Amino acid sequence: MGLFKIRKTCHNISMQKYQITGGHKLSGEIKVAGAKNAALKIMAASILSKEICAIHNTPDIEDINRMAEILENIGAKIKRENSTLTIDPSGINKSNPDPNLIHRLRSSMMLAGPLLAKFGEVTMAHPGGCIIGQRPIDMFLAGFKNMGAHLYEHEEFFTLKAGKLKGAKIVLPWVSVTVTESLMMTACLAEGATRIINAAMEPEIPALAQYLNNHGAKISGAGTSVITIEGVEKISAGEYQLIPDRIEAGSFAMLGLITDSEIKITNCQPEHLETELLMLKKAGADLEIGVDYIITKKSKLHGVELRTHEYPGFSTDLQAPFTVLMTQANGQSLIHETIYEGRLFYTDKLVQMGANIIMCDPHRVIVSGPTKLMGKKLESPDLRAGMALILAGLVAEGRTTIENIYQIERGYEDIVSRLQNLNGKINKIEE
Ligand code: EPZ
Repeated sequence: MGLFKIRKTCHNISMQKYQITGGHKLSGEIKVAGAKNAALKIMAASILSKEICAIHNTPDIEDINRMAEILENIGAKIKRENSTLTIDPSGINKSNPDPNLIHRLRSSMMLAGPLLAKFGEVTMAHPGGCIIGQRPIDMFLAGFKNMGAHLYEHEEFFTLKAGKLKGAKIVLPWVSVTVTESLMMTACLAEGATRIINAAMEPEIPALAQYLNNHGAKISGAGTSVITIEGVEKISAGEYQLIPDRIEAGSFAMLGLITDSEIKITNCQPEHLETELLMLKKAGADLEIGVDYIITKKSKLHGVELRTHEYPGFSTDLQAPFTVLMTQANGQSLIHETIYEGRLFYTDKLVQMGANIIMCDPHRVIVSGPTKLMGKKLESPDLRAGMALILAGLVAEGRTTIENIYQIERGYEDIVSRLQNLNGKINKIEE
């Protein structure tokens, strides 16, 4: 792969589907890509500087391409060479990105703070993204107001105006990853110190802080629940090596287990998955865990009680593949999704495939296993549920067709070939 421009369109992805023939064992190695949810934030942070930033190990996925489109829309120059994404922000000259682009990506909300810090003003449409709950933006807006911004709200968009932002004490009513990251990066160019209390602690947050600190920021406490940011005059930019995607790594571990296969997951950081790996072991998984790899072994699984939680708890992004895994475990599992109210509705698709799942309420399901799954025609409701349906398809008897694969390709690079390399019977077809 050489130098190429960011893909502008989603091709004819709406016409494409995955076709999976289940019931085959997998084998071999699968390499984990760079973390989508770290890359998107470094891309947003590039606005704070006028210098070129090069992000290595960047996955070639739809969400990154959508974010790149927005940055280009406001004047940045972006190119990709293999897995290095280079952003030249020196031409950024507007603080009102095209609403049509904003709607397509919830993480576009990450751009509001840096634009406000840079221009003293930002106008943005309400962001879009995965439909996995209400996903409001009130905490972002409250944080910016705390730093001295004035908010003008309209039905379709909002405007924030400030002179120079002022450091502030910001207490988050509950933990949010993107709110923490957004306020952290915005506060870098504010006057004085900002303290974020009840901050999220996901590994992508210290990763972002490290990038910013390497280029002039003064952030301490990232990765804990209190983060302090001393405002500085200027942020520079440079190279950054993305951390591996912990959600990919965890999903691939569950893939090995559900297909009863020995696979090696490489280029990962299992220390970012302590609780998830513990829960897998509690459910009977036999895993070999190294510093940067996980090997799945043939395991006799049984049901467990799972509760998603902010990091370092069990990630909500791995709840769906874990639930699918529990359909093949012996006994009952209670799955309690505590973060999002809409993130268990995909389980009706597993029921169509033959799973025994009872929804107690929008946050809890009981899975009784093991049950044989049968191939079906399904639509991917969101990114992570989409990956869960792939796992279900690979263990099901017969053929599964998954539609709406844009949702999956938002977050997983070249997933079909990577699974084919493991001997997975999956193809992309056009109908
Ligand atoms: C981040 O989403 C991730 N996205 C999500 O990954 C992940 O599921 C989530 O954190 C939880 O770990 C990115 O990093 C881009 P939140 P985020 O703000 O930050 C409420 C994936 O599949 N809230 O932490 O958008 C909200 O409703 C995704 O890769 C407010 O009330 O999630 C939710 O209940 C999807 N007001 C809770 O906070 C606000 O202003 C957590 O949401 C903002 C959020």
